[in-house]
Amino acid sequence: MKFSQILGIDVGGSGIKGAPIDISEGKMLAERYRIPTPLPASPDAVAHVIKRIVKHFKWEGPVGVGFPSVVLKGVVKTATNIDKNWIGVDAQELFSKRCKLPVLVVNDADAAGLAEIRLGAGKKVKGTVLLLTIGTGIGSALFTRGCLVANSELGHIFLDNGLLAEKFAADSVRQSEELSWSEWGERFNKFLKETEKLFSPELIIVGGGVSKRADEFMHAIDIKTKVVMANQRNEAGLIGAALAAVDNKKRLKKMWKELKG
Ligand code: BGC
Repeated sequence: MKFSQILGIDVGGSGIKGAPIDISEGKMLAERYRIPTPLPASPDAVAHVIKRIVKHFKWEGPVGVGFPSVVLKGVVKTATNIDKNWIGVDAQELFSKRCKLPVLVVNDADAAGLAEIRLGAGKKVKGTVLLLTIGTGIGSALFTRGCLVANSELGHIFLDNGLLAEKFAADSVRQSEELSWSEWGERFNKFLKETEKLFSPELIIVGGGVSKRADEFMHAIDIKTKVVMANQRNEAGLIGAALAAVDNKKRLKKMWKELKG
């Protein structure tokens, strides 16, 4: 089994995207394939989509999946923006059995963070780096000296207005409340101030769909910490999921043996 190319998959609130990734350069080897997230996004329905993506690329090697919840050793622990039936499900085992391939599952923001810290905007930054992915929810990846503190879940902190950060400043909230980019930017700034107070990071990296619209909201950001957009923009999740799989080579090789007998 080769680890130089991994199929990276990002499970999001609106779409599930996949692409084969060349690990040495962190580049997509083919155009990404996107399937809308099924409704409800039940374990069975999502596993079916993962299998369709594997089939689309006729994939035969290891797979890395970024998943929008707390994931511990492949088991889903929370379900904020996904079907509640996910809680307690061993996603890694479910996807591996369904695809008959070794699959590694990690938190989606942690995956995106790995891509940015190793190959993107956080490369060579030694201090504390925080990556925030803004989409249906708010995900976070916290690094210090390049090491990840997994499942940091900063989208779930309460702000001083009593609201949960992701219920106040996610991109889905901008859309549903029809906020202008400036109005949303002010909300995002409030959240950034809180994270700055907690961690005094050297750098904050913004990922997810909003990273393409930096020109429209950055004027509202006035924190002291340097804030930049993710280099891989919306693809960091896919690339990072593949990188996480390489980091867990040993486990995936063991799974491969168990699957292939
Ligand atoms: C989830 C996180 C996830 C984030 C972005 C949040 O609602 O709790 O685990 O990283 O959404 O998808």
